[in-house]
Amino acid sequence: MRAAEMLRTGRLVAFPTETVYGLGANALDATAVASIFTAKGRPASNPIIVHIAAVEEARGLTRTWPEPADVLAKQFWPGPLTLVLPRSTRVPSIVTAGGDSVALRIPANPIALELIRTAGVPVAAPSANPSEGISPTTAQHVLAGLNGKVELILDGGPSDGGIESTVVDLRDPGNLRVLRYGLISVDDLSSALGAPVTASDALTGADEISASPGQLLRHYAPRTRLEIATDSGWSRVERLLEAGRKAGWMPRGIAAAAQHAHARLVIRTMPANADLYATKLYSTLHELDALGLDRIVVGDVPTSDTWLAINDRLKRASTPTRGL
Ligand code: TXA
Ligand code: MG
Repeated sequence: MRAAEMLRTGRLVAFPTETVYGLGANALDATAVASIFTAKGRPASNPIIVHIAAVEEARGLTRTWPEPADVLAKQFWPGPLTLVLPRSTRVPSIVTAGGDSVALRIPANPIALELIRTAGVPVAAPSANPSEGISPTTAQHVLAGLNGKVELILDGGPSDGGIESTVVDLRDPGNLRVLRYGLISVDDLSSALGAPVTASDALTGADEISASPGQLLRHYAPRTRLEIATDSGWSRVERLLEAGRKAGWMPRGIAAAAQHAHARLVIRTMPANADLYATKLYSTLHELDALGLDRIVVGDVPTSDTWLAINDRLKRASTPTRGL
């Protein structure tokens, strides 16, 4: 496999996972990992997840492997769960942004697993998008965002999951904390462990910047300004259209979208189910963002456990960043 050989020789390879596409480098090669930061324009303060193909490989990369890590790995790996543990000295500090912990996951995607196995090294990989942009869920998204900055993209078709993995901090095994909401819900984690898992202060809003370095509020954002409505969003869309603006509208469910056709309006109906909504979220944002619209209006979504990750991503995407 040419891609595996490229990783071994210090080059970057973009590859599919079940969540989003990753931009991979040999995690044990500090120079190769440095080129990930350059390609993405990623701040050096943001650590990178290390992808492995088998649970045993985690032991060589960590100093401790507490019981809850075993329980979660058995239940959710391969899958969209990232475990943060004390790092071993084998992991170059650039991977962990100088920190003492390493984030690990086994992706549930046959191409990703074959790539990691064949390369024979752990693979450091953030989402394969320019820093602060929307994560890619297709090879075309990777190409559009990182054209010229990655030599090879393995095309595995659209990602099923659609949003990133859940990140859990296991450094204090008696007090597990979710650092990033994701496809595995807080309830899923709590029931697997038979004990409650809490969200970090950074996620609950109590502490915006500390615990998880990557949880910058400006993140996952389209270039087009995005608003989250407190209802279906139609009244907001209507005002934009009346003002002569071009709008994209993402209501949940067909009913909301019916009878609202307009020449300056692009409607993309979103699923009522949280998993299906996640699958479509980034691909819809990528599509609408490419249309040169003045505004994207997203209809409200539930606030229950299974919708936490979607609420989190929408909130970050809606923070105004670039003009307008
Ligand atoms: O689903 C995913 O997790 C995708 C696929 C490619 O695996 N990857 C991904 O990577 O979303 P990235 O770099 O876009 O987001 C990684 C998140 C960031 O919030 C980062 O700060 C956090 O994980 N993270 C990485 N290493 C960490 C560490 N050692 N301690 C705490 N947080 C860490
Ligand atoms: Mg990312």
